[in-house]
Order: sequence, then structure tokens, then C-alpha cells
Amino acid sequence: MASDSHSAGPESLVEIHASPSAAVRVLVVALLLVLGSYLYRERSNRERHRCKPVVPYVPYKWPLALDLLKRLYDIFFSDHIFEGLTPYFNIAGTCCIHLSGQTGYFTTDPQNIKAIFSTRFEDYGLELIRRQFVRVQKQNLQIFTPHVNRLVSGIAEAAVEGRVDLKPLMFEYTLNTTTMLLFGEPHGSMDKGERNAVRDNFDHAAFGCGIRVRLADAAFLYNPPKFSKACESVREWATFFAAKAIKCMDELGEETAAERYPFIIDLWKDMKDFELVRDQLLHVLVAGRDSTSVLMCWTLFHLVRNPEVLQRLQQEIASVPAEGHLTREEIHRLPFLRCCLNETLRLYPTLPLNLRFANKPTVLPRGGGPDGNSPVLLKKGAGIAWSVYHLHRLESIYGPDARVYRPQRWEDGELMKRARPGVGYIDFNGGPRLCLGKDFALTEASYAIIRILQAFPNIRLAPEVPNEPVGTERHTYTIGIAPMDGVHCPRP
Ligand code: HEM
Repeated sequence: MASDSHSAGPESLVEIHASPSAAVRVLVVALLLVLGSYLYRERSNRERHRCKPVVPYVPYKWPLALDLLKRLYDIFFSDHIFEGLTPYFNIAGTCCIHLSGQTGYFTTDPQNIKAIFSTRFEDYGLELIRRQFVRVQKQNLQIFTPHVNRLVSGIAEAAVEGRVDLKPLMFEYTLNTTTMLLFGEPHGSMDKGERNAVRDNFDHAAFGCGIRVRLADAAFLYNPPKFSKACESVREWATFFAAKAIKCMDELGEETAAERYPFIIDLWKDMKDFELVRDQLLHVLVAGRDSTSVLMCWTLFHLVRNPEVLQRLQQEIASVPAEGHLTREEIHRLPFLRCCLNETLRLYPTLPLNLRFANKPTVLPRGGGPDGNSPVLLKKGAGIAWSVYHLHRLESIYGPDARVYRPQRWEDGELMKRARPGVGYIDFNGGPRLCLGKDFALTEASYAIIRILQAFPNIRLAPEVPNEPVGTERHTYTIGIAPMDGVHCPRP
């Protein structure tokens, strides 16, 4: 090679000088080919599915839609977030939004939501953890009994000054049951100071995560020291339990450890990675704790505001023995209780707003073209948000009283058939991403509500608390949506 270059004449010099530009040309051709094949695929996808662009969009005036960003910011930090978003979700069934130079979509169209959940689930690739939940679904109801007893006595004790707010007690209850399930020990077994510190850190971390989710790409802007300290302490807490279970396995063997810490040992057998186990524990804790407490909060919030509904439920519950452990069969024999829970999850879905990003080009069945009836092509990386909150208040599905708390609407089973789960009614999601804790959550909430109503037959709305129409209550939004002003009852 050396001799070749030394003996090179003028032609080879030309060749040497020409090669960088040849490389550039090759690169340009390659890029054009990639771009061409991308555009070709996009066009053929568009043609094959007869896709049309989404026409309605959220209006804005300032460059980069900064005025819209400001409006959304104000709504997201208000006390009526979801009512504030209603005008945007009312623009059309599917609408585009241009923010900071990027285009995203949002929808309340049941057909599009069905595509995201099931028919095109793979296009939004999410990892699933399923195996560990086999045990959860067979959970013996006895694990709830001590925590329910504690909740009931907590209500009686907390009724200071003639009035009690049920909300913090519900959150404490579900923190206990979920930690019992995941860590093998309830959070309540810690001493009081430590227990309160963990709870406050968990709540603060959840609050911060809620803000970061809303900031989307700009999440990095929110990282105050209090938030990162809270996250760190929650991580340490989960690390402590994961380490304890694994130490137990090393010292006493897998069988003993699996009896004491079944969830952690199952995760460990699958993952064999300490940090992954810890993160999955926190993932399930976040998914399971607040979701069930807010279901209980909103149910009691409305029961005390609707005395006829409360009375019917009390009559139904009178058939259940007030002492000892409850069984699944006893709970299943209470159809009106299930109607009340359905109605709560309709008006206050645990995840009122949800979001996915397409991991490959994909198609939404509807929303394109001037009439919104044509399919829409979503590019890889496009974000699509859907509002379960607004979907569940659509008069086209739920009738003119869609904004009224009326559990009776679920009684004959027709509505459930019409608004099938995962299409027009999304309580626990649908398709492959169906909530893994569904049975646990419903049992946990039912057990507690039954015992509260049995222990406090005179439960009612505190006289000075307003009985405001659905939608006008103030709410907080962290991971889920909760009543901002609590659930106040006079001393039961
Ligand atoms: C009222 C209570 C609950 C409601 C309404 C609820 C609802 C949901 C929904 C809508 C999803 C889908 C989220 C998404 O795909 O973006 C979900 C997922 C999940 N839920 Fe629940 N949930 C509840 C309670 C629980 C409980 C108590 C647990 C655990 C003990 C739990 C564990 C999970 C897990 C692990 C996932 C993720 C599933 C996966 O990775 O495939 N949930 N839940």
C-alpha cells in the first residue's frame, strides 16, 4: 500500500482528493434512500388505511403556542383541573395539539382508545409484569381484616371536635394493605415517627411525580431538593424491604422466604437484579395505593351526599355478618355495592388522563378528515393522550344525566354491555394492560366500605359542608384525582 501511494501519479492524487466528496455523495444517496423509503412506507400506510390528517386543533396565537402552554399551565395548577380541560376535549372526538414545535393528539373516541388498548397495543410497546400477580389474585381476605379494624377504630378516634375527615384514614389504610401485600409487612408496623415520615415522603414524591408527568418533556425543570430527598427516602425504604427478603432467602432458604415475602421473592426469581426488584415494588406500590384510597374516598364522598343511595346500600349490606372475616362470596352477593363502585370509577377514574407514544408508525381508526371519520396515521414517536374523565361523562354513552352520581344506572347490566370495558368505560383499563390489581382493589375497597357502613350506621355529610353538583368539587391531581377538601362527616 505504501509503495502504491508513493508511486501515485496525478490521477491517483485526483482520486485521493475526490474520495471525501464521493463519501459525502454516498452518504447523501443513503440518506435519500432512507428518507425515500420512509416516505414511501408512510405514504403506502396512509393509502392502505385510507388515512387522512386530523383537522381540528387547539387554537393558539403566539409562536411555539406559548399562550396555550401558559393556559394549560394555569389549568394544571388549578383546583378544577379536569373541568378546566373540558373545552379542549370538547373541540372534537380527536384533536391535534401543537406545542413547543411538536404535534401531539388527544382523543375521547372509544374506537381509538380500543385500538391503543388492544387491537394495536403492540404499536405502543409496554412491558408487562404478570406472573407475580397470580398470587395477588388468590389473596386470602384475612389479610385485610386487621387493617379494616384499625381503620374503623381510627375513624372513631379521629372524630375530634365532632367531625372526622375520612380521607387521610383511607390513604393510611391502603398504604398498610399494599405494603403488606408487597413487602410482607404493613407500613403500620413501624414506629409512629418513622411511619409518618415514610408516608409524608411517599405522598410528596407522588405529588412531585404528578407535576413532572404534566410537564412532559420539560419534567427536568421540576426537581426541588425536597422532592429529590423524598424520592431518595422512598427508594431507601423499598430497598430495605427488598434486602430483608433476599437476606431471609440466603439464610433460611427459598421456601421460608417465599412464605414471608412472596411478592419480592417472585420478582427476584424473574429479575435477579436488586435495583429492578426495588423499582418494580415501587411501581406496584404507586399503582396500587392511591388508586384504591381515592376510589373509597369518592364513594363515601357521594354516599353521604346522596342519602337514598346510602340507605339502599346499607339495606343490602345488612345481609352480611358484622363480625369476623368477610369472604369473597359475601362481597359478590352485594350487587348494589358494585354499582356504587362502578359509578365512582366512571365519574372519577383513577387515571383520568393517560398517554402513550407510538413506538412505530401506527393507525388510529378514527379522527381524520373534515368529518373525523377517517383513520389517522400516527408517526413513530407521536404522543396520543386520552381522557377517561371526559369519555366517562359523554352524554352519547351515559345519557343526559351523565354528570350525576347515580349507581342505579349499572343495575340491569345493559350499560356495562353497551359501554364495554376498554371501549366506553375504562375502570381498570382493558386488553393486555388490564390492571393487575383489579380484584385486590375491589375486594380491599368493598371490605372497608362494608365495615365502615356497618360500624357507623348514622354516617352522613357534615352540615356545614356544601353538597355541590358533580364537576364543581375541588380536586387534587397527583397520580390520580382526589377530593381536595376531604370527606367530612359529623362524629359517626
Ligand atoms: C381502584 C383501584 C385501581 C384502579 C382503578 C386501577 C386502574 C389501573 C389502570 C387504568 C391501569 C392501566 C394503566 C396504564 O396502562 O397506563 C392499571 C395498571 C396497573 N395496576 Fe391498577 N388500578 C387499581 C388498583 C391497583 C392495585 C391495588 C394494584 C396492586 C396491588 C394495581 C396494580 C397495577 C399494575 C401493576 C399495573 C400495571 C400493569 C402492567 O404493567 O401491565 N392496581 N391499573
